[in-house]
Amino acid sequence: AISRVHARQILDSRGNPSVEVDVELADGSRGRAAVPSGASTGANEAVELRDGDPRRFHGKGVGQAVAHVNGEIATAVTGLDAEDQATVDATMIELDGTKDKGRLGANAILGVSLATVKAAAEAHRQPLFRYVGGVGARLLPVPMMNIVNGGAHADNPLDFQEFMIAPVGATSFFEAVRMGSEVFHTLRRSLAEAGHNVNVGDEGGFAPAFTTADEALDFVLLAIEQSGYRAGADFAICLDPASSEFFTDGHYAYAGEGLTRTSDEHIDYLLDLARRYPIASIEDPMAEDDFTGWKRLTAEAGDRLQLVGDDVFCTDADRLLDGIEGGYANAILVKVNQIGTLTETIRTVETAHKAGYRVVMSHRSGETEDTTIADLAVGLGCGQIKTGSLSRSDRTAKYNQLIRIEEELGGSSEFDGRGVVRGDHL
Ligand code: PGA
Ligand code: ZN
Repeated sequence: AISRVHARQILDSRGNPSVEVDVELADGSRGRAAVPSGASTGANEAVELRDGDPRRFHGKGVGQAVAHVNGEIATAVTGLDAEDQATVDATMIELDGTKDKGRLGANAILGVSLATVKAAAEAHRQPLFRYVGGVGARLLPVPMMNIVNGGAHADNPLDFQEFMIAPVGATSFFEAVRMGSEVFHTLRRSLAEAGHNVNVGDEGGFAPAFTTADEALDFVLLAIEQSGYRAGADFAICLDPASSEFFTDGHYAYAGEGLTRTSDEHIDYLLDLARRYPIASIEDPMAEDDFTGWKRLTAEAGDRLQLVGDDVFCTDADRLLDGIEGGYANAILVKVNQIGTLTETIRTVETAHKAGYRVVMSHRSGETEDTTIADLAVGLGCGQIKTGSLSRSDRTAKYNQLIRIEEELGGSSEFDGRGVVRGDHL
């Protein structure tokens, strides 16, 4: 049973405060979890409670969320069985009493939820992925590595937020990391040679002053080929334009390019990119409230492109069911802090799998050294993970944990790049 719950404020990768929770069980087992934070958040995400006191952390303190954990939440969950995750999570949801977890804060609730499962895994003397996934857990996720950053994650004019490479030709997770790292360093050299700045953005990818997607994609393709790999066979390209960020008044406003596209023109532009480059997956191709656009794009290209819903679903199983029924997207991004508990996250993943939607476990642009999502990706059999570039410890911590998991699984581990990420170029 849970005997002690304690939260504190720590710093995330952007230097902003975040919630970290320790849960201790009566047998002495412990779990610790830190909560991530997004920059290009969806409108329907669970609420991240921030203090708003301008004298502390520029208003971004999470002292209230921490106080809620150490007060009300600790009182409510102490004595509960840590193995009964559903009851622990339901207790917090009920205690909060709002639909969006805005009273106690999703950051408070998620910290306790994840620290609880980690303590329970320790009590069972099992690695987290094994405790969550059981004996069947053995599929390592295909990583989407974000090597060029734009949008809200970088101080450059690039309209699209993420240009990712997925090493679909790799034979193991470790080989995927090696291949990605090689391309990352080749890209650095070729950007530097072309006179571009090689500083990195929030997710560890380069953030040169590109203005168009073509520029970024040309450099990425060149880096793949200069590293001795075949674009489209060894690596697939994956995009996250994060389209909600530049959708205003019913139009897609490309500030970097200095032009505006209607929903239809935006779709045609994306499909043209997918014809000219070996793109297998596009996340948030359409804005979170452009449902007409989502349906049109899915009907037109859903059979050959992976279309991943991030902002449009917000890791919410009910919103996902709307998409499944309404015929939009064919995959979902899963961010634990968008929904706020492990139990709800599991329900969302199961709902997706049942409907044949692919699942991409995901970090946030503001991260910590916490690696829980690496274990969840394997435990829940997600098949894909998005956790940034091949630099910055907040990103590589997750890759490194997956390397350890693969090693621990030994011969029983599976990695299936082309089986998981499909596109008509591959
Ligand atoms: P965020 O971005 O964590 O800043 O929301 C990630 C994404 O859009 O996928
Ligand atoms: Zn996204």
